[in-house]
Amino acid sequence: MITGKKTTGINQMKSTDFIVARNDLQQCKVIETELPDAGALPDDALLVKVTRFAFTANNVTYAVMGDQLKYWSLFPAPDGFGNIPVWGFGEVIASRHPGIPVGEMLFGYFPMATHLVIEAADVSKRGLRDGAAHRQDVSPVYNAYTRVSGNPAFTGKQGDYQALLRPLFMLSFLVDDYLAENEFFGARGVLLSSASSKTAFGLAHLVHTLRKGIKVIGLTSASNVEFVKSLGCYDEVVTYDRVTSLPPDFAVAYVDMAGNSGLREKLHRHFGDQMKYSGIIGLTHRLSSPDEKFELPGAKPRFFFAPDQIRKRAKEWGPGGIDVRFGAAWSDFVPKLDQWLSVTEGRGPDTVKQIYLDTLNGRVAPNEGHILSL
Ligand SMILES: NC(=O)c1ccc[n+]([C@@H]2O[C@H](COP(=O)([O-])OP(=O)(O)OC[C@H]3O[C@@H](n4cnc5c(N)ncnc54)[C@H](OP(=O)(O)O)[C@@H]3O)[C@@H](O)[C@H]2O)c1
Repeated sequence: MITGKKTTGINQMKSTDFIVARNDLQQCKVIETELPDAGALPDDALLVKVTRFAFTANNVTYAVMGDQLKYWSLFPAPDGFGNIPVWGFGEVIASRHPGIPVGEMLFGYFPMATHLVIEAADVSKRGLRDGAAHRQDVSPVYNAYTRVSGNPAFTGKQGDYQALLRPLFMLSFLVDDYLAENEFFGARGVLLSSASSKTAFGLAHLVHTLRKGIKVIGLTSASNVEFVKSLGCYDEVVTYDRVTSLPPDFAVAYVDMAGNSGLREKLHRHFGDQMKYSGIIGLTHRLSSPDEKFELPGAKPRFFFAPDQIRKRAKEWGPGGIDVRFGAAWSDFVPKLDQWLSVTEGRGPDTVKQIYLDTLNGRVAPNEGHILSL
């Protein structure tokens, strides 16, 4: 994907881009865009080959929220279409920045494409930032690339886990920290919707291992019950149609990954004042009503805004404080993934399209982790 500056010179290569219709995510197609030859790159630019990326329900949420949260502006596509951002790896194949050699491997936010031109800025030993003007409307985390050449934590299966889970587990880590800091708002248990999702089971793992005395209750679809039970980090697993069987006098904190308005209302009415916290995180079910009123019994539902917690902890814990704690939590989590996830690698436009549509339509089993490339 090439954006921004006009290029000159002979175009020798093309980028293959996978794009979706913004107003109908079921419509998708592959297009080709021109790539500049290395000599025509602007100063400080890098031509990066996108080598592999993860695709989960989180990426579908980026598409659903594309206009509202400006995700579509990151990797522009033709009118009416959008390129969904994905977490993954890219190899620098041409460089006009003196500090970044050809062959450098980067981890970060990429388009679903074979190539991306990055305007390298703030280059350090650890990473760099894409300074392209059209990317500056989003949180800085989406423009940061980590230099990972030769880093064993980012190669092979470890690399797959990073792409599939690291950004999700950061959210799990922040929610666990936020709830613990607030003593779970007086709740004795945490309820997680879409308990089979990677973000949910990351949080369940943290609460289960770190917060003794807090019961972890997973809510999921009938087809995913066995998987959720097998994880061993949920004390109880309940299907969506049985949530009112939970004892209503047990104080709970609700962490919502499903974004299902009907389920939220049912839970609030069931638990009433025992609903001590209600945080909206995800949108896997895509059943949120835009006109939803949050005047429900119990704690008022509110969006969990990760950057707020990051800012707060960065101030309190000082430089590197989050990284050290997150690193320790990640190291404890990753060994579990060999039992919990089966990583499948898929290549080429047809496979990418298939996995995209399967993910969009809820046809991916929760133990599957897809690593793709175009
Ligand atoms: N706010 C943030 O900063 C932030 C950060 C990270 C993640 N999140 C959100 O957390 C959610 C989970 O993301 P993930 O990548 O961890 O998910 P994932 O692992 O791909 O989750 C898969 C699960 O989601 C449910 N699901 C997925 N597609 C569905 C569909 N079309 N219809 C019905 N259910 C469907 C199913 O769970 P059940 O059967 O158990 O419901 C499925 O097993 C996403 O909405 C993501 O955006 C938000």
